Amino acid sequence: MKLTNLIGTDQPNQTKNTFISDVIVGLSAAQKSISAKYFYDDIGSELFQKITQHPDYYPTKTEFSILEKINSILPSILNEPEIDIIELGAGDGHKSQLIINGFLDSGCKVNFYPIDISEKAMELLAQNLSINKQLHIHGVVADYFNGLNHLKKISNNKKLVLFLGSNIGNFNQTETNVFLSQLSAGLNQDDYVLIGFDLKKDPNILNKAYNDSDGLTRDFNLNLLARINRELAGNFNLAAFQHYGFYNPVLGAMESYLISLKDQEVRLAKTNQTFHFKAHELMHLEYSHKFSTAGMTQLATSNGFEIAELFFDEKNYFADALWQVKT
Ligand SMILES: C[S@@+](CC[C@H](N)C(=O)[O-])C[C@H]1O[C@@H](n2cnc3c(N)ncnc32)[C@H](O)[C@@H]1O
Repeated sequence: MKLTNLIGTDQPNQTKNTFISDVIVGLSAAQKSISAKYFYDDIGSELFQKITQHPDYYPTKTEFSILEKINSILPSILNEPEIDIIELGAGDGHKSQLIINGFLDSGCKVNFYPIDISEKAMELLAQNLSINKQLHIHGVVADYFNGLNHLKKISNNKKLVLFLGSNIGNFNQTETNVFLSQLSAGLNQDDYVLIGFDLKKDPNILNKAYNDSDGLTRDFNLNLLARINRELAGNFNLAAFQHYGFYNPVLGAMESYLISLKDQEVRLAKTNQTFHFKAHELMHLEYSHKFSTAGMTQLATSNGFEIAELFFDEKNYFADALWQVKT
């Protein structure tokens, strides 16, 4: 697999500096927060892989069941002898392999471009993807749009962009519209995107998934503090923070927080700064918005896409939407 690392080489200081400045801004705000995109260092990516296999966490296995059903249908819809599949936030590649296999089995040649901010995820992906003469793989370690810009002129082949796992739910409404309109503008007329949407459902199912019985999600969230300790010489005491994740029906989103269990100071030696946490103070980590069919349709039509197909699992927990660029 060819690999381009836009974080490690082309822009050596950019991501590190962004991490430092984002953490400082987040910890200095009246409502403290740290962006969910920083979950995925090496340890975070491995923890996330374990979460996806946990019985309480339905999204991964549910989306997988949809992809198993549709991977033989997609090639007949796209109907091309060769395509470029670009995957945003590809993770460990298990879902990618399913989609790729569908195209290879239909005789279509595939150029696969996974983009992920995590080097560790790209390493796991490279281990998991099988070699095939009809498959060319070029991984890009980058933020979504840095990666997409880098790949802009790769070929004239029809493109299928994968954005799976309901990663889209981490954006707020404005960010979602900006993201989707930039995505359609960066593609050619009639290119396709396949986007995973986690659907609104019984809040008890949601709350269980994000509070698994083995505490993996708790450890995944606390790893953000450990990452700050490792990379910014912080002294967060992980035992003095509690993971709290709950479904907010007003927002239609899972919200994830760390709660300070006492009045405490945290120091980042790297920046020579100290931050005060009051007892019971919240630090926001993640939104994971849940969608309705009407909401998905609205997002497609207002951002330069037409709906080609909507695929659901049998319990209607999750949907994968195939949209075509029509600007
Ligand atoms: C929730 S996981 C989903 C992985 C996979 N798509 C799936 O459905 O199982 C999110 C993935 O997106 C990557 N990611 C998160 N924010 C990103 C960003 N801004 N740019 C690129 N990759 C990102 C993470 O490193 C992680 O591998």
